[in-house]
Amino acid sequence: MDILTLGIESSCDETSVAIVKNGREILSNIIDTQIPIHEKYGGVVPEIASRNHIEAISRVTKKALKEANIEFGDIDAVCPTYGPGLVGALLVGLSYGKALSYAINKPLVGVNHIHGHIAANYITHKDLKPPFLCLLISGGNTQIVHVKDYTSFELIGKTRDDAIGEAFDKIARVVGLGYPGGPKVDALARRGLPNIELPKTHFENSLDFSFSGIKTAVINVNHKNPDIKKEDLCASFENAVTEVLIENVKKALKQTGCTKLAIAGGVSANSYIRTEVLKLESDSLKVYMPDMKLCTDNAAMIASAGYFKFVNKEINELDLNAIPNLKL
Ligand SMILES: Nc1ncnc2c1ncn2[C@@H]1O[C@H](COP(=O)(O)OP(=O)(O)OP(=O)(O)O)[C@@H](O)[C@H]1O
Ligand SMILES: [Mg+2]
Repeated sequence: MDILTLGIESSCDETSVAIVKNGREILSNIIDTQIPIHEKYGGVVPEIASRNHIEAISRVTKKALKEANIEFGDIDAVCPTYGPGLVGALLVGLSYGKALSYAINKPLVGVNHIHGHIAANYITHKDLKPPFLCLLISGGNTQIVHVKDYTSFELIGKTRDDAIGEAFDKIARVVGLGYPGGPKVDALARRGLPNIELPKTHFENSLDFSFSGIKTAVINVNHKNPDIKKEDLCASFENAVTEVLIENVKKALKQTGCTKLAIAGGVSANSYIRTEVLKLESDSLKVYMPDMKLCTDNAAMIASAGYFKFVNKEINELDLNAIPNLKL
């Protein structure tokens, strides 16, 4: 029998509700973005984000049900994100999810937002099954994850300071591109040349990353050479961080013996990173990446991750709390 999960995502600046069938098929995925609201502040303002989630959540849920052509009674599990993220923002989606679960008498399945990003790959690639290696590159995280099973993960590498998305956003601000920076750096870099030397941080005997050095270097280069071509600076930055990502992924593949590699998270929408990761594909390695619209925050990926927890009988009680720094 088909299983329908309702995903709720409100960890940052997107209010999103989705209905997903059997963890893989999107029936609806409504995303109400607050980007225009936060744009003028140059970044997400947590209090404003929470207030806007409250305003949007019922409307977005109704729209998701309508588009999927179902009623509340057809849902098998309610799956809100409970971390990591901004606590006030998380609490809106989680509280709504808990109330809904109670009202319609259907199980509550709290979802880790990071598991959601990884699950976006299950929607795009119906044949993808664990085990595989996942390079998780997002606004708040940079990790190499050994996905052992649908609900079993091992963290084998992580950033020791900034997340890669944070670095993209910071560089965008420094060169005057505004928020959200990643897509703008991506677009500008396509017109530039990677001809500026920037530091690439590697750690001996470790799969960890560090992006604070390169971030500071870009800021300094830009400051000392105000007339530098921003296109070249963006292309050089992308080139350097991608080289480090690829090198660690290669080491991780060797270490784990994985024959499948996925990427996930907002930064996996970057066109240069996608091209370079695809080049790794060979007879012994299959590469997976989510559709562009599933890379950044959306509730379909949350409903997918929720489905796999639900079928594994990982149900939560209604006292589930938001955990802003929830780990993998
Ligand atoms: N084309 C792109 N190139 C580079 N970065 C991008 C691109 N598109 C989006 N991003 C980055 O993706 C991030 C937003 O999506 P993401 O879901 O990763 O963030 P988040 O939800 O805030 O963080 P997390 O998922 O770690 O909690 C931002 O840092 C943004 O700049
Ligand atoms: Mg995210």
